[in-house]
Amino acid sequence: MPETLTILGLESSCDDTAAAIVRQSGDKPPEILASIVHGQNELHSAFGGVVPEIAARAHAEKLDYSVEEALTTSGLTLAEIDAIAVTAGPGLIGGVLSGVMCAKGLSAGLNIPLVGVNHLAGHALTPRLTDQATYPYLMLLVSGGHCQFLIAHGPERFSRLGGTIDDAPGEAFDKTARLLGLPQPGGPSVQAEAKYGDPKAHRFPRPLLDRPGCNMSFSGLKTALLRARDAVMAEHGGLPKQARADLCAGFQAAVVDVLAEKTRRALEVYLADTPSKPLLAVAGGVAANTAIRARLETVCADHSVTFTAPPLALCTDNAAMIAYAGLERFRSGAQDDMTLSARPRWPLDKTAPALLGSGKRGAKA
Ligand code: KG4
Ligand code: ZN
Repeated sequence: MPETLTILGLESSCDDTAAAIVRQSGDKPPEILASIVHGQNELHSAFGGVVPEIAARAHAEKLDYSVEEALTTSGLTLAEIDAIAVTAGPGLIGGVLSGVMCAKGLSAGLNIPLVGVNHLAGHALTPRLTDQATYPYLMLLVSGGHCQFLIAHGPERFSRLGGTIDDAPGEAFDKTARLLGLPQPGGPSVQAEAKYGDPKAHRFPRPLLDRPGCNMSFSGLKTALLRARDAVMAEHGGLPKQARADLCAGFQAAVVDVLAEKTRRALEVYLADTPSKPLLAVAGGVAANTAIRARLETVCADHSVTFTAPPLALCTDNAAMIAYAGLERFRSGAQDDMTLSARPRWPLDKTAPALLGSGKRGAKA
């Protein structure tokens, strides 16, 4: 095993086509030499969600170019790449297949190792890429497609403490925006409106807070919001600006309360392991929400736990996290061959019971 490893990573499990190159020398902090991400928003916007077939075709078209761009940005040639890491699941199967086939072609053509990576492991190992986090740390993945608490013990060893049994919070933000006539993606627009609203004007449910454990549910919130909106519209004959802001503030406050309380419970389980440098990391698009971040920081401070959120470009889907997770797997001696298959579902913690539900933006595992 060479002291310095240079890994090319590919990601295509949802609606971002990404290629990145990450290098690490021995124990030194890893370096991102290039990270290219091509979103597909304009291809799907007319359909109100990601269309798997359109996504897969777009990935197949864009992957080669993304690899070329990553090489140009880094100033490297393919001859300098030690291994190819690729998202092999979970996700929309056509997209995952596009990436796996591209990676197999590169691996066979260059005669270098192939390393399949679990997309969720990519997110979960990001605090090691950005902050050199030491195991074990607690991770909250919270995006349009994911919502789960994981304790990361090692590159392939995770305990899932709980997750959503239906929608991911990002989906709930997006649906809320749609119901209130606000632009997509919903998270930033709902957050902006919520600033001017009264979070107490409506009392939205805090699902599953009355049950023990760290599982969450966000689909009922959307129904409650729809009812509240209809009531306001029936009363005013439309949706006044202030009423819309109040609905956003009430919805956001409910999401914040649920995430804060479940995080508090997850921290208690994690801290029972007595980690020497306790850390909670959040990742995913929803981690950009300032109200959510502020509350999670408070929960962490109450438990004397360090809080970290990687820069947004590394919180949302990207290939640098895949290259890095592949690098850790490869360094530990693992690699795949041409039998590597694309998996629509692939839980990180094989011992945890399956979570119900599957989101519109890809499989939750
Ligand atoms: O991680 P991400 O880019 O993509 C996947 O879900 O794969 O997350 C996107 C989600 C969207 O649902 C978006 O509305 C949400 O993250 N989001 C936010 C904010 N910024 C993005 N949600 C709440 N508050 C925000 N500021
Ligand atoms: Zn993701």
